[in-house]
Amino acid sequence: ERHKRAGLVSAPPSTPRGLSALAALYERDFPVYRQPVEVGCFSLDARRTFFNDARQLRYYVEPRRRPELNLRDGYRDRYLRRDEAVKENLDHMLTWILANRTKVQKGPAAGSSSLELDVDIITWRGHLTKLLTTPYETQEGWQLAVTKFGSTLYISEVETEAARQSRESRTERHKEMMYWGYKFEQYTCADDAGSRPDASGVVNTNEAFCTVIQTRLGTHKLLFSGEVDCRDPDPSAPPPPSCYIELKTSAEICTSKQHRNFLRYKLLKWWAQSFLPGVPRIVAGFRDNDGIVVSVETYYTLKISQLIKVCAQNLHFPTNVIPPHPPPPPPPPRVVYLFSWEPNMDVTYTVHRNSRYTFLPDWYVRQMMS
Ligand code: A3P
Ligand code: MG
Ligand code: MG
Repeated sequence: ERHKRAGLVSAPPSTPRGLSALAALYERDFPVYRQPVEVGCFSLDARRTFFNDARQLRYYVEPRRRPELNLRDGYRDRYLRRDEAVKENLDHMLTWILANRTKVQKGPAAGSSSLELDVDIITWRGHLTKLLTTPYETQEGWQLAVTKFGSTLYISEVETEAARQSRESRTERHKEMMYWGYKFEQYTCADDAGSRPDASGVVNTNEAFCTVIQTRLGTHKLLFSGEVDCRDPDPSAPPPPSCYIELKTSAEICTSKQHRNFLRYKLLKWWAQSFLPGVPRIVAGFRDNDGIVVSVETYYTLKISQLIKVCAQNLHFPTNVIPPHPPPPPPPPRVVYLFSWEPNMDVTYTVHRNSRYTFLPDWYVRQMMS
């Protein structure tokens, strides 16, 4: 295993560049980010089974202005929690790609072999959100495994040791508060365009509806998927992703210090999460310490960005570091570049072959080669 310390931005051009996470380095023009386009979607049911359709998409129902929704209801008796110890890596996205190859393959005109996708980077939206907010993050580091297969980089998160420890030692209060976000979704979403939410049902966090988005950041063609909470129930609303709505909960804001922190830490992340897939609207339920939603606010993603300055320069780093030509056989998809970052540090990376970090499954590689 080679171990490398990534070069600083000021390093000579021959060494990897752009890996410092200092915010000041990113306070410049935002690279061109093309309007995100939905190329498909998929659903995961209560057992995490994949469906190549929108069966899990829900419809937004606006709550009353002072709704008094009790987010604690059902935590003990109507909550089925997804097992976070099970790491799915990019598997659901890869399943989607195999089922929709014609949508993402290079055309025959390009004269390329069948495994060539017309995409530079494949990942989850959540991983891109972390990259985008890295210069502003002070709490949690990340690890991202990157593999080159064909001419495409696949990026999949690896849970850090610190994240695993905090996941395994969550307090009872923290566990309950994680439920609150999903309970808010249940209060504000219906299964059909014309129906009402049913807050008497079970909250099952295995269920998900995901959009698959294609866009371009600077010169990089991105394909990523992200969970979408619900859509505008109006059938004449603009097409996806413009009709999608992100739901959030947050502690009610009472002091100016809380307001500052809300903007600085929370709204920044909300913005990045929704900006990337082009979700224009965020509906936030503000709750008190007993989990009662006392007010609901709508934020418009593009207006948030006028308040918060963030730059996506960070998204360049994987392509800067990985050699333009994949290493010779054994199959390149088993080689992983593991990028690591901790607050106040630079990004570093290590190279691994046939290790526990290999994440492209054989079934994907086989089918892509056939
Ligand atoms: P809130 O964000 O409203 O608290 P999302 O908002 O991305 O649709 O996620 C829905 C809910 O999942 C969140 O609701 C939160 O409860 C939980 N959640 C999302 N990301 C999480 C994370 N990284 N750690 C713990 N819980 C998370
Ligand atoms: Mg969600
Ligand atoms: Mg949400």
